[in-house]
Amino acid sequence: MNLTNTQTSFITHLKCSKCSKSYNIHEQQSFATCCNKPLVAAYESNPTFGTFSLKNRAATMWRYREMLPVLDDANIVSLGEGMTPILSLNRLAAQLGLNDLQVKDESLNPTGSFKARGLSMAISKAKELGAKHCVVPTAGNAGGAMAAYCASAGIKATVIMPSHTPKIFQQECQYYGAELILVKGLINECGALAAKIEKEQGAYNISTLKEPYRLEGKKTMGYEIAEQLDWQLPDVILYPTGGGTGLLGIWKAFHEMIDLGWLKPDVKLPRMVVVQAANCSPVVDSLNGITKDISEYTESLANGLAVPIAFGQDMIHRVVKESGGTSVTVSEQEMIDGVKEIAKHEGMLVAPEGAALWKAIPKLIASKEISRDEKIMMINTGSGYKYLENLS
Ligand SMILES: Cc1ncc(COP(=O)(O)O)c(C=O)c1O
Repeated sequence: MNLTNTQTSFITHLKCSKCSKSYNIHEQQSFATCCNKPLVAAYESNPTFGTFSLKNRAATMWRYREMLPVLDDANIVSLGEGMTPILSLNRLAAQLGLNDLQVKDESLNPTGSFKARGLSMAISKAKELGAKHCVVPTAGNAGGAMAAYCASAGIKATVIMPSHTPKIFQQECQYYGAELILVKGLINECGALAAKIEKEQGAYNISTLKEPYRLEGKKTMGYEIAEQLDWQLPDVILYPTGGGTGLLGIWKAFHEMIDLGWLKPDVKLPRMVVVQAANCSPVVDSLNGITKDISEYTESLANGLAVPIAFGQDMIHRVVKESGGTSVTVSEQEMIDGVKEIAKHEGMLVAPEGAALWKAIPKLIASKEISRDEKIMMINTGSGYKYLENLS
């Protein structure tokens, strides 16, 4: 498929997010070996890549090709991910007296969630780096996405997911030909088994932020928000946070666009708001100085939010603080109510993770952390269709 007009990536190296030590882009990297922190991709900010370059490019996330890490177009594994619509939620906005409420609807991606972006990128890089077998711990959506992209690339996939995950998430992996392993517990226990399979079977471990390129896929949401809004960013972005990759990616994209000259150096960047399930809120708790034992965090209907330890927690804290953002939790019942309200008033069946954002807004207004006249954007990360068996 001819996705772009160019075969150039401006990637220069990977760097440790803590100490900036450089890592090689020509080898599989699953861990930052120096500080045990995520590795992030660094690029040359080449002014030849201007916004004019985007004209006539395909409406997929690969339109930002130069700022993506795949070196050779032949390795791109794409199912048409990205360039999801931004929609105004006028009927919901009217209920709360909001001036401008929008949603970026990621449910329209292949496999029904934003995970398609990260996994398209990670599996393209896995192909480029010669991987024959990939393994991923998942709360649900990432597993289906990895299975699909591995099927398309002809790479063996092993998906490890909590045994309580709704059946449809399990079935889709099997349809895509992945080996599926169910584990009693949350995603951190799945992660321990993935590390074992990596060690014993030589599989490439695609765990969130331990593999550096899923972040690069997810950052394309930030590029799209800017481009689709004609380079006028929202005041606030609400993000349903599990491992936090999307939040970090959007923030990374804003900074890359400043370096590229696509956004003005003094641009007012959005305040980034972390929304988590009350059942499992390690990031919100740590931002509020609360320490809990991980056994106190339990599963959630929003399985993507049931992440008791976020590997990139320090980075998430930095983004919330730098952006002047905040964090808030939403209960299980609020998410169920939110799914129903958005369906009934806007005709969209969103994932409970997305619905959590809508239910967070009145809380943020009450605490004066957002005001009714601001431009508010919610990132609906997935489709509600996969969750129906647990929603009644
Ligand atoms: C629908 C959905 N929303 C949000 C998340 C959390 O994503 P992140 O790791 O970017 O915080 C997930 C992760 O599984 C998910 O599936």
